[in-house]
Amino acid sequence: MSSFNIQDLYTDPMAAAELAAADIARRTGIAKHDVALVMGSGWVSAVDALGTPAHEFDAHEVPGFFPPEVEGHSGKIRSYAIAGEHGSINALVFLGRTHLYEGKGIEPVVHSARTAVKAGCKILILTNACGGINKEYHVGQPVLIRDHISLTATSPLIGANFVDLTDLYSKRIRAIVKAEDSSLQEGVYVHWRGPTYETPAEILMMRTMGADLVGMSTVPEAIAAHALGAEVLGISLVTNAAAGVTGEKLNHEEVIAAGKAAADRMGALLKGVIPKLL
Ligand code: HPA
Repeated sequence: MSSFNIQDLYTDPMAAAELAAADIARRTGIAKHDVALVMGSGWVSAVDALGTPAHEFDAHEVPGFFPPEVEGHSGKIRSYAIAGEHGSINALVFLGRTHLYEGKGIEPVVHSARTAVKAGCKILILTNACGGINKEYHVGQPVLIRDHISLTATSPLIGANFVDLTDLYSKRIRAIVKAEDSSLQEGVYVHWRGPTYETPAEILMMRTMGADLVGMSTVPEAIAAHALGAEVLGISLVTNAAAGVTGEKLNHEEVIAAGKAAADRMGALLKGVIPKLL
């Protein structure tokens, strides 16, 4: 779409999301998608469990999307037709995301979430890799996000838009997921800007505040989608013990490897849950 300039994302983000949704509808021939998934670090191969996509294209061909910068984030958008319990479900999958630490501002961070809602999605599934603050968690464990603490002092919303966040991470959907896998635990996720990992002292602060998980994504997208009326599910994969928990140093390769190792379980979980969502 040659008339779109990336600057337009910043001047009118909602119009950019509508343009992106229209572009996705044109590329896929699907006027309305039902569910969207954002696949974070290490989650990309989990999506293979959903089968062969009906469509796949580069995200940066769609208005408002930048090329990916992080290994493990492939920058593609896929569309799947999934047999649901009450009819066919069109799932829109974003392989990768933009993070706050990239320095592009908040608008690109939430563009997938807004585009998904404008494309018709009533449910947004946000996945991520995270550090385990809760000492009972182990590497490779998926945890449902029950609530969050934002430590970035940033919101995707501007103005007197006093959105209630009491049920941000939908209780209804968490119940469906726990019925699928009763071993799943729930936790409180802290959004950390990054790109540095936290210090051990910061992790101690977070634990004292009541946090279980820490990562660099998900929270702005959840808020942006919820503000537009979508239900949100957040699933974190614990890819490492948070700083200071074991004394080991943290690195991105470990995060990606833990994601790959857990991909089958994560994929099976998504495959089992999506048909029950609508
Ligand atoms: N901290 C923040 N973000 C992360 C971590 C972590 O320990 N692991 C994966 N993403």
